[in-house]
Amino acid sequence: MGKLKVGILISGRGSNMAALVEAARDPAFPAEVCCVLSNRPDAKGLDFARERGIPTVLVDHKAYASKAEFEVAVTEALMDHGVDFVCLAGFMRIVSPAFIERWHNRLINIHPSLLPSYKGLHTHERALADGVKLTGCTVHFVRAEMDVGPIVAQAAVPVLTGDTPDSLASRILTAEHRLYPLAVRLIAEGKATLKGEVVDIAPDAVDETGRLFSAI
Ligand code: GRF
Repeated sequence: MGKLKVGILISGRGSNMAALVEAARDPAFPAEVCCVLSNRPDAKGLDFARERGIPTVLVDHKAYASKAEFEVAVTEALMDHGVDFVCLAGFMRIVSPAFIERWHNRLINIHPSLLPSYKGLHTHERALADGVKLTGCTVHFVRAEMDVGPIVAQAAVPVLTGDTPDSLASRILTAEHRLYPLAVRLIAEGKATLKGEVVDIAPDAVDETGRLFSAI
């Protein structure tokens, strides 16, 4: 079976993209990163991708009269690079229903909370204000409603006394960097499959405690 051909959409730092690129350097990883696309010319992640020899594409949303035209250009660029699966990784444009439909069930996102808690922005501030003791991150298929969609995988992260939004964000980010490659691997191996609007995880993808096996 061929590898899943992944395109990654970023807008900034791109540390999750970097984690996916690094994971995909392992010949045994079942997905390859065909291109990294940014809507911003100054996205730091573009430098990382270029240094690793990954094709990069800039589709500057400001150069398009409408979101629809911008997204058509994004899709064309992804298709030009042979992409058949899209990972949003800190992509700061809300994608339209038309784009989601075009990439239906081939478009995933990572969000820094345990969805369905804390959708949207300022997740860590809100988690701290609520005093929750566990938060984390979620990889999910993208649906028209923001931060909603079938959950592929989640990692729980403890909230510690004295945490600030920054310290919590950084602990969660470390978990994100393990979770995103793991989620892509499960999908590419056919071990995370959609059954309606729920993702089924293959029994052999988890240990006896129900934890996902992670090679990363
Ligand atoms: C991550 O926290 C991710 O969960 C959220 O945006 C942030 C992107 O960070 N969607 P990076 O660009 O991957 O470093």
